[in-house]
Amino acid sequence: MANKILVIGAGGQIGKELVEELCKIYGNDNVVASDIKHDISAPCAYEMVNVMDVHSITTVIKKHNVKEVYLLAALLSATAEKYPEQGWKLNMEGLLNVLELMREKVIDKLFWPSSIAVFGPNTPKVNTPQFTVMEPSTVYGISKQAGERWCEYYFRRYGTDVRSLRYPGLISYKSPPGGGTTDYAVDIYYEALAKGKYECFLGPDTVLPMMYMPDALRATIGIMQADADKVKIRSAYNLAAISFSPTEIANEIKKHIPNFEISYKPDSRQAIADSWPQSIDDAEAREHWGWKHQYSMETMTTDMLLHLKEAKK
Ligand code: SER
Repeated sequence: MANKILVIGAGGQIGKELVEELCKIYGNDNVVASDIKHDISAPCAYEMVNVMDVHSITTVIKKHNVKEVYLLAALLSATAEKYPEQGWKLNMEGLLNVLELMREKVIDKLFWPSSIAVFGPNTPKVNTPQFTVMEPSTVYGISKQAGERWCEYYFRRYGTDVRSLRYPGLISYKSPPGGGTTDYAVDIYYEALAKGKYECFLGPDTVLPMMYMPDALRATIGIMQADADKVKIRSAYNLAAISFSPTEIANEIKKHIPNFEISYKPDSRQAIADSWPQSIDDAEAREHWGWKHQYSMETMTTDMLLHLKEAKK
């Protein structure tokens, strides 16, 4: 029988779709969705959990006999810059709480997301390698880098089976992102359809690594399904698909909506974007456990617009 899975942060951009996908693969009875909110709809059992409260996590894990956790609750880059203490606390304590449950062997396997935000202004910007100078300059990036160190530490010291990916900006149509620097690449599609124009909070030439959600879900489930000995990196894997600037994605949208107009009004998120890489070298993920992306900027744009148009009907 498959291990029972708990998704913490099931109401978020990744969580919502990941729960649906896990239910399809393992069956609704083998998945439990949880979030700090109480009104999440899920195809499987739902529990309200505060990741800062180890008692509430433990109760749910024991009640459902959970063996595998996907810990997605976090404050993203722009929100964490507004509330640095809260960002650090949620992103760090949440992870440490679950790592402790692994050390105590309450659960066997953990997925915890890292991010391109672990890199900083001194990192090589193009084809950023797996192992390089990092020095993140945002609270979010600092929490992700520290988290990676903790994951590797628990693996080396206690043999905990924790797996992680450095997600690029994720683009999706089912559940909106919140508080990230890469969110523009989602907003732009909604506004293109609703208003035919979009004011971008990043400048025209700001190239960032991005990925369409179906690829991100395959990567996430892929690394969790890989044989343990194939997951050789226990901090977090670089993960890449596509890279583009606001100008480039706007031009792609214009192929579908010819009158679409983009304007630019960079805000504080520009400095965050400027500190991150433009493209990522993910050779290790491809080599070790067979990662391969499917969507290009072109196929993603066609698919996004198709689904958003359908949803408007
Ligand atoms: N998409 C995230 C953000 O912009 C990066 O991990 O904060």
